[in-house]
Amino acid sequence: MIDQQTKLFAVIGNPLEHSLSPLMHNIFLQQQGINGVYLALPVEADRLDVAVNGLEAIGIGGINVTIPYKEAVIPLMTALTPAAERCQAVNTIIPTTDGLIGDNTDGAGLMAALAEEHSWEPAGKSIALIGAGGAAKGIAAALAAAGASRIIVANRHIQRAIELATWIDQLGDCHGEATLLEGLSQPALFQQVDTFINTTSVGMSPHIEEMPPLAVQYLNDNHLVVDIIYNPLETQLLTQARQQGAKVSSGLGMFIHQGALSFEKWLGVKPETKPLYAILQAELLNKNGR
Ligand code: ATR
Repeated sequence: MIDQQTKLFAVIGNPLEHSLSPLMHNIFLQQQGINGVYLALPVEADRLDVAVNGLEAIGIGGINVTIPYKEAVIPLMTALTPAAERCQAVNTIIPTTDGLIGDNTDGAGLMAALAEEHSWEPAGKSIALIGAGGAAKGIAAALAAAGASRIIVANRHIQRAIELATWIDQLGDCHGEATLLEGLSQPALFQQVDTFINTTSVGMSPHIEEMPPLAVQYLNDNHLVVDIIYNPLETQLLTQARQQGAKVSSGLGMFIHQGALSFEKWLGVKPETKPLYAILQAELLNKNGR
């Protein structure tokens, strides 16, 4: 029931037609018995500052930020959390009495998903990260902060891989290395690395037959292969990895957990994530079937 006490939450981005955030967060609100509503608010680039400042002025409870504004909102923030500061991208805005705090729950969301699904912990791990864009940077920052010891960045353009690997090195204790995508077919890599994370859009709908050039024949049940794509729910990469006996994780878990972490930061309560897997899977299948 919406009444005079109802708190507003929203995601801003453009376009937002396919966003699953409203469905997920309204379930979280209901589940936790919170009088709130979560809306998708598409915003034009030249109105971003008016929108964000206006939402603060009307007392919004929390904002998510998605493509293409994760970097553009930074100048509008009063402060950034270390997670947002490290990767220079904001996916969560926390309104406080001191102003708007920009945070980033994407990397931590991925790790929470892997912990829940596979009891996977980053500490001491060697990880191959496929891709060197914004998504890869956020994940690398979270992995390094959580104690990963080595991240091998494999990218189509080597320069970007080198830049990200150098940046990882500068973060502290985690060692960054760069390779071309061809490096993903070296048998030795599969001895050194137990976790592969695809952060590129290769394999995303509608190009569902494509996959990054990982030599899946070298995978076994000691390996974990992760894709941040959730449409399709199981990419070609994950299907082939699963057929080799590897553990797999789709981007749905990361999506659910980044949202749950945002929700917790706004409201101080942890929503239940497990029921969301089936609900969002059904929604995605339903959307794709239409
Ligand atoms: P995002 O913020 O989603 O990471 P991005 O910053 O544009 O988006 O980065 C996209 C990543 O996917 C890059 O690593 C890109 O490789 P390049 O740096 O070599 O361009 C990678 N990528 C996108 N399409 C690709 C393709 N068809 N084959 C291989 N890599 C691809």
